[in-house]
Amino acid sequence: MSASFKIREIDPDEYSEIEKIFEAQGLENNKSGVTILKGYAVETGDELIGGAEIMLQDGEYTFSVAVDDDFKILGIGKSLFKMVKKEILSLGTTRIMIQAKTPKYWAKFGFVEVVDLNDVPKTFRCDDCPQYGKDCFPKIMILSL
Ligand SMILES: CC(C)(COP(=O)(O)OP(=O)(O)OC[C@H]1O[C@@H](n2cnc3c(N)ncnc32)[C@H](O)[C@@H]1OP(=O)(O)O)[C@@H](O)C(=O)NCCC(=O)NCCS
Repeated sequence: MSASFKIREIDPDEYSEIEKIFEAQGLENNKSGVTILKGYAVETGDELIGGAEIMLQDGEYTFSVAVDDDFKILGIGKSLFKMVKKEILSLGTTRIMIQAKTPKYWAKFGFVEVVDLNDVPKTFRCDDCPQYGKDCFPKIMILSL
């Protein structure tokens, strides 16, 4: 399928709509201790088909992105990440940390796996999650900016 899409920054009262897409795509939505700094929606016509949130978690800049199944592999994730990276760069940080469910995807953008988990804040670690290693195999990854 091909589609034209647009990405726009959203207001905080719209975050819950994109978080529904995150949840449908299997991303956790535990926002405790997390500050959402910015959100983006992807739309084709009136239809919401993806989104992103930039967050500050345990002193680390991070983000979530998700794209609806019908609109994957069209470059939407890539376009979202471009905006997210530009915005995070403007905040003056030197790195982005993620809990990557699709590590091969993020490696394409320069993220590398963190080998020593002692360097990772507790809230980023998944080892005490019941899903970890069963049906979820995330890697903690960092992009140095
Ligand atoms: C991961 C996700 C955001 C990718 O979005 P997308 O719009 O389908 O990806 P894009 O079209 O931008 O893909 C860009 C490139 O990555 C490749 N790619 C896409 N998904 C991939 C994956 N899971 N693993 C490896 N490569 C992948 C594409 O083939 C494309 O390659 P190319 O540049 O050589 O043509 C989307 O699959 C998704 O929402 N997944 C579920 C939620 C999720 O895991 N979010 C990330 C949390 S860490």
